[in-house]
Amino acid sequence: MAGKTYRIGIIGGDGTGPEVIREGVKVVEAAKKKFGFNIDWTEYDLGGERYKRTGEILPDSAIEEFKKFHSIFLGAIGHPDVKPGILEVGILLKTRFALDQYINLRPVKLYPNVDTPLKDKQPEDIDFVVVRENTGGIYTGIGGVTQKGTSLEVATQVMQYSRPVVERCVRYAYEYCRKRGSKKKMLTLVHKCNVLTHCGDLWVRVHKEMGDKDYPEIKQDYNHVDACTMWFVKQPEYYDVIVTENLFGDIITDLAAIIQGGLGIAAGGNINPEGVSMFEPMGGSAPKYTGKNVINPLATIAAGGMMMDTLGEPKIAQAIDKAIHDVLASGQIKSLAAGRMGMGTREVGDLIAKMVS
Ligand code: IPM
Ligand code: MN
Repeated sequence: MAGKTYRIGIIGGDGTGPEVIREGVKVVEAAKKKFGFNIDWTEYDLGGERYKRTGEILPDSAIEEFKKFHSIFLGAIGHPDVKPGILEVGILLKTRFALDQYINLRPVKLYPNVDTPLKDKQPEDIDFVVVRENTGGIYTGIGGVTQKGTSLEVATQVMQYSRPVVERCVRYAYEYCRKRGSKKKMLTLVHKCNVLTHCGDLWVRVHKEMGDKDYPEIKQDYNHVDACTMWFVKQPEYYDVIVTENLFGDIITDLAAIIQGGLGIAAGGNINPEGVSMFEPMGGSAPKYTGKNVINPLATIAAGGMMMDTLGEPKIAQAIDKAIHDVLASGQIKSLAAGRMGMGTREVGDLIAKMVS
């Protein structure tokens, strides 16, 4: 077949991860026929089961292989029998850092017919994007513990940011805001500069300097992170594009996921604009639903669309987004919650796949 061939690594991972990834792959495969491109998928057996079986988490050789893909598609990481932190840090964070995926892009969009817990909010009210810095801050793990286990123990975990790491993130967010071209044209920096007077101030200065110099048409805006959580609930229509540091971005995007209908629909991308990116649903491995064909695959399918966009195939991304929109608008899916969709994981995948093919 004519068209480009994309090499994509697949990590199904733990719990329901492999089930949702199967549907994400199904939809991209369906689009492939219509849009004329090829995909060469390589599957990786990574996650809790492999760790329990072999003691191996993520071999360095796999990271070297990841570097050769055009992209990576990830289901979920997290296993009930493995202590929290081992797989998350050893697989997810290790990949984000090793491939320098310095942006975590999380669109927040309420589709038609989707229940939001926010009273009286409509799809036109909930449509913004969070650009979360993804390789710095407190996630770098600087710190330690002394006198562990004694009554005097001390633990530290340091938030650190260098100017280039802040700049490349803020630059990405301004460019994204320009490209998005919404009427609001506003980039809101979310931080806590009234308390984090060192890190916060660096972000505030970079946001202002860069905006003044290179993006005069974009309105500069600032929210403290605590106030931002309040506005997400009270007035989400205020936002256009948000840029924020790693931990704050982690926290506010869970809240954002819930106002857009829950983890069943919330997608994200760990992006290295110059390298290999990795796309995933925001939800976790949901072990209790594993193998039951009840988990919602829409977030993974949407992440597949974001992946095609980042690969330079915006038409395919738009087709996938439109299919999700149209299927939800048709009312065939009863709820976005696991087990309450009125159909199974595979059937949701089939519906979307049919719309894009
Ligand atoms: C996320 C997750 C991860 C994070 C965890 C699993 C390490 O919560 O992708 O938002 O904190 O970044
Ligand atoms: Mn999170």
